[in-house]
Amino acid sequence: MNHFYIKDNRLYAENFLVEDLAQEFGTPLYIYSKNQILKNYREINQPLVNSKLDYINCYAIKANSNPEILKLLAEEGAGAEIASGGELYLALKFGYLRNKITFTGVGKTDHEIEYALKENIFNFTVESLQEIKVISEIAHRLGVIARISVRVNPDIDPRTHPYITTGMKENKFGIDSRDILEVFTTASKLPNIDIIGIHAHIGSQITEIQPYIDSVKYLIDLIKIVESKGINIRYVNFGGGFGVRYKNVLTHRYIPLEEDNNSSYPSLGGYIESVIELLGSLGKKLIIEPGRSMTANAGILVGKVLYTKQGELKKFIITDTGMNDLMRPCLYQAYHQIIPLVLSDTGYETVDIVGPVCETSDFLALNRKIQKMERGHMFAVMTAGAYGYTLSSNYNARLRPAEVLVDGDKYHLIREREKLEELHY
Ligand SMILES: Cc1ncc(COP(=O)(O)O)c(C=O)c1O
Repeated sequence: MNHFYIKDNRLYAENFLVEDLAQEFGTPLYIYSKNQILKNYREINQPLVNSKLDYINCYAIKANSNPEILKLLAEEGAGAEIASGGELYLALKFGYLRNKITFTGVGKTDHEIEYALKENIFNFTVESLQEIKVISEIAHRLGVIARISVRVNPDIDPRTHPYITTGMKENKFGIDSRDILEVFTTASKLPNIDIIGIHAHIGSQITEIQPYIDSVKYLIDLIKIVESKGINIRYVNFGGGFGVRYKNVLTHRYIPLEEDNNSSYPSLGGYIESVIELLGSLGKKLIIEPGRSMTANAGILVGKVLYTKQGELKKFIITDTGMNDLMRPCLYQAYHQIIPLVLSDTGYETVDIVGPVCETSDFLALNRKIQKMERGHMFAVMTAGAYGYTLSSNYNARLRPAEVLVDGDKYHLIREREKLEELHY
């Protein structure tokens, strides 16, 4: 069951009418479902629990780092995949164990490396030999050991949007497969470095299983080569990237169906099941780093129509939320389903649903067939719980939205709407 659903032509978040929450807290407003997040987390872990493989699920906190959501997953036992010193600070502050924190990223600064070493995090996923040398020097100076996993670029096409592809030759991530052996052997001789693992994260919003099978097979072959050189690999990390449904999330007689090139989506457990057999006999510990799949379908962004305007070529629905609150449409032409909070039989029209920001790229949807909406009508942008608030900005000196977490018949304001005074801190 999805914890956002339609009943009597109205959108609900768990036990609450979304309209009521929007009336109480105003718009734009992010609303999250606690039980959907828990469901996602448990669903992805289930095949791992069943397999008896030793694993760590390191939630990629860049997807949604609201403190209450961070706490929720930490309490469930998640680790954290972090991409900056700021994310390390958040992970530590909101309950993640140091021995479950893994630090990825092509551009870790010396300061961030020192911070993470002093905090004795579990693992640095390293992305170049130069970086490994810097980590070794800093670890040596501090008199500590840095545990590292080498991120490889397996040159696998995950068949997703080019901007969220990370494991192909042309991407900046990981180490070129031609250099990988030399990197392992050089790193194994550096002081204060303990090579513990191998890593490949090939992209995000991947809706097929095959790229994972290819990536894991690649890693397994590589491990054999690396181990033949006397380097012992204890952890295999195949990243995150598990795709979620953005189109036709909710269906209803007043919501037009969208054409979707994906006829089916793997279940969350399905991604893991597909590679467990390959990994089972390897005798290594497994790390996964899901972000989007933990929170995307557990969040919506609620906005309100300010004006409607007929241009020569198009009709525009101008709303109080846009690219500064949810950047995905303008950044990757991402599709989000938009659902009026009150569905009615007013007929459809094809419109551009745009924000108030002074950029032409400020849109939520282009050429979208949707129920007719008028000034004051509210709507939900679905599947906005990942890479929504975390990518938001103050552009045009707009205030970031409030965030509410719903939990059955309770709800909590988990971040207040920004205030004008906060604009000049
Ligand atoms: C190294 C790494 N791991 C995990 C993730 C999470 O990916 P997703 O949110 O698609 O699961 C990312 C996303 O950018 C990443 O860069």
